Amino acid sequence: MSKDLTGKIILEGKEYEYPVIVGTENEKAIDIRKLRADSGYISFDDGYANTGSCKSDITFIDGEKGILRYRGIPIEQLAEKSTFLCAAHLIIYGELPNEQKLNAFREKVAGRARLHEDFKHHFEGFPPKAHPMAVLSSMLNSIGCYYPEMSSNNREQDLEQFDEAAALLISKVRTIAAATYRMSQGLPFIYPRKDLRYVENFLHMMFTEPYHPYNPPKEVVDALDLFLLLHADHEQNCSTSTVRMVASGGANMFASVSSGVCALWGPLHGGANAAVIKMLQEIHDSGDDGSRFIRAAKEGKARLMGFGHRVYKNYDPRAKIFGQAAERVLKALGRQDPLLDIAHHLEQAALSDDYFVERKLYPNVDFYSGIVLKAIGIPVDMFTVMFAIGRMPGWIANWKEIAETSRKIHRPRQIYTGSAKRDYVPMSQRK
Ligand code: CMC
Repeated sequence: MSKDLTGKIILEGKEYEYPVIVGTENEKAIDIRKLRADSGYISFDDGYANTGSCKSDITFIDGEKGILRYRGIPIEQLAEKSTFLCAAHLIIYGELPNEQKLNAFREKVAGRARLHEDFKHHFEGFPPKAHPMAVLSSMLNSIGCYYPEMSSNNREQDLEQFDEAAALLISKVRTIAAATYRMSQGLPFIYPRKDLRYVENFLHMMFTEPYHPYNPPKEVVDALDLFLLLHADHEQNCSTSTVRMVASGGANMFASVSSGVCALWGPLHGGANAAVIKMLQEIHDSGDDGSRFIRAAKEGKARLMGFGHRVYKNYDPRAKIFGQAAERVLKALGRQDPLLDIAHHLEQAALSDDYFVERKLYPNVDFYSGIVLKAIGIPVDMFTVMFAIGRMPGWIANWKEIAETSRKIHRPRQIYTGSAKRDYVPMSQRK
């Protein structure tokens, strides 16, 4: 709260004065919490584009400048120097871990990878073609049932168990993802190995066969680790806000992150990475180099998936990093992907086109990430699941922030635009 700054709102000739909140990076907000009580008015902000729903210490984004920082540290530095688990620790606990703390965290995560054997029956309850996001969301909530001491919906108790639950979720989300893939392919489940690091263990559970171990090339491991790190948090996006909303009612972490998965699923959010690859493939199959698609997007007949962002009005810094990673991993694997050429062409065409320039539409995180995942061998239906594995630390940190600091349930208001009061019509008189 700034002592010097206030903001005034004049409604029907009456003036109301409210304090101004200033963030670490000088972001300002007028605190209108008392506006309705004072004046009868609420603020209206469809899609919350101009609403600060919370104060948070976790992630900072400057969308105009294309800046993203986890706990103050620029994403470019983390992408170059950190690993996913190290960044997860930073996001959840606020500090980069020293060697001892990182090893302890790794150990804890590695030790919690196995699923209860009952889960085989849970998986059998799904049709083989079930979407992996539906399976993931159900399974994450189910895990809570096996750990009632961590999912009590009693804040104090759930917080006492926080370290355990956080490591468990970061670990098991990856086991569930791999098991879902194996189920969809009619393949036997592969048990995790404690001697493998986070990403290697995931790839082992995905691609090892009982008669043939999978030893991923280093480039694949590095690319996937980078993918997870770049998705680890992104302030108040649709899924994280959902996690916070659910947590605000007092729900435990398992239930809260399970809702986050559902929110992530849609094509305007995490589902965009799969939608981008489908779009690029369709462009390729139709013999277009992207020019026809750009025209259709400008006429409102198509949407350029992986482009545009509610907050970024500049390059999403993650898109830049992924663009380079896609080149790197394809080169290292000695592969070419015509979809990468189409993506480059689309990017260049859009960046020099008035429609996209005027609307400040730039590539976002999903534009190149699918090409990276495809090169690694992840099936398209699993792309958004990969996003969910990466976003888990962010959801957990946001759940913790709510559980530790917020006592208020999230409950927006609305402007009612339906029928005015009218009487109940008996069935015999209805038209
Ligand atoms: N292709 C063509 N036109 C677009 C696009 C696009 N991808 N995105 C926005 N526009 C246009 C939109 O039609 C509108 O034009 P007009 O002012 O003439 O009506 C203008 O740009 C503003 O768009 P908006 O839909 O009001 O913007 P928003 O902030 O509500 O939506 C968005 C942001 C990300 C949902 C949107 O840009 C979009 O649908 N992008 C494609 C899907 C996508 O890539 N999603 C991933 C987002 S990043 C990762 C994540 O959050 O999960």
